[in-house]
Amino acid sequence: MLVVFMSLTGQTRKFVKKLGWPSLEITLDNAFIEVDEPFIFVAPTYDKEATDLIADFLETGQNTDYLKGFAGSGNLNFNHLYCFTAKDYARDYKVPLLHLFEFQGMDPDVERLKKEVEKLG
Ligand SMILES: Cc1cc2nc3c(=O)[nH]c(=O)nc-3n(C[C@H](O)[C@H](O)[C@H](O)COP(=O)(O)O)c2cc1C
Repeated sequence: MLVVFMSLTGQTRKFVKKLGWPSLEITLDNAFIEVDEPFIFVAPTYDKEATDLIADFLETGQNTDYLKGFAGSGNLNFNHLYCFTAKDYARDYKVPLLHLFEFQGMDPDVERLKKEVEKLG
């Protein structure tokens, strides 16, 4: 499964690397890139303005058709705002919220997300 992600301070990037799957990092420079295979999106959590490029990417070409789910990186100190970016995108695009983890995640987070993706078939 392709893993598309964004990362501002590198935590999500480190997590995605641990998955060992093909990946694509979305930045301001390539947000309008088109994909042609199923993917999950792993999103860090920031104010909406900082993560709008996720919507830019999803709304490009047929990308939405290939979106299989969201996972989120956040910080539990934000309490009810924990991982709201991934939660909101999963809700808005009607795809499963596969897993939430703090910062770059621990080994169990990597295994958990892999299991959730396997369940998608
Ligand atoms: C300015 C700022 C705002 C953040 N807001 C939230 C938040 O509302 N909820 C949350 O769970 N984490 C929040 N975080 C934590 C980051 O989402 C978390 O550290 C994440 O691992 C960062 O991923 P990245 O290094 O890939 O950008 C915030 C971090 C910063 C620096």
